[in-house]
Amino acid sequence: MKAKRHILVANWKMNPLTIAEARSLWRTSVKYTSEADKVTTIICPPSVYLGRFPSQKSKRIGLGIQDVSSERSGAHTGMISALMAIDAGATHSLVGHSECRKRGDTDEIVNKKMHTALDVGLTAIVCIGEDVRNDNGTHLSFLRDQIENTFKGLSKKHIGHVIIAYEPVWAIGAPTAMEAHDVHEMSLFIRKTISELFKGIGLHSLPILYGGAVTTENAGDIVNIGHVDGLLVGRQSLEKDSLKQIIEILNS
Ligand code: PGA
Repeated sequence: MKAKRHILVANWKMNPLTIAEARSLWRTSVKYTSEADKVTTIICPPSVYLGRFPSQKSKRIGLGIQDVSSERSGAHTGMISALMAIDAGATHSLVGHSECRKRGDTDEIVNKKMHTALDVGLTAIVCIGEDVRNDNGTHLSFLRDQIENTFKGLSKKHIGHVIIAYEPVWAIGAPTAMEAHDVHEMSLFIRKTISELFKGIGLHSLPILYGGAVTTENAGDIVNIGHVDGLLVGRQSLEKDSLKQIIEILNS
């Protein structure tokens, strides 16, 4: 049987604080990935560092911008165009991270950003996830609505360039992640919802990652019991030892 390949998205957020540290973390991330032939790592540094790393021939290293403007150009002070990101070497863009949603990105804006990113040729890593969970299962209808709104108007061609990062908002930056069995339930739910929305899309045609408090301790269970295609890692992607271990877990 062909060994499964996994994706790691390293979301550096607003770290590290100098280009020297960023370059060192980049080099280490590339080195560990090159030693793990079943892992693709997409590194998402702060945008001011885009274009400041050596370009990579390896298809297993991607460069992602953490957020893009929904517009291609014009009077949008402080925003970065997806076209600029591509020019600086980006291959991917996060869209709809919960920290951007908290700053005002609605599903409608996320949808627009996703269209713009995909139209210019970036792969979109779209973040979805509920704020709270309860026994009534309202998080399921919340998630279904979020997927429907966020994916509105996407063509099947677009869908082929989308990675879903399922990130329960309550787990991001928290001490503990979602239980691996729950991750499995949610990844099945997301696959089913996507295949209902996009008829003809196979249940496994879209990679689904889990994000939120991933550590070296829980990464293995989340991937194996949770049946996801990889992980979106924040804090632990900045720690070289943890990063190494997480890449090894994804490679095994
Ligand atoms: P965390 O962040 O791994 O630090 O919880 C995850 C994320 O960026 O969504």
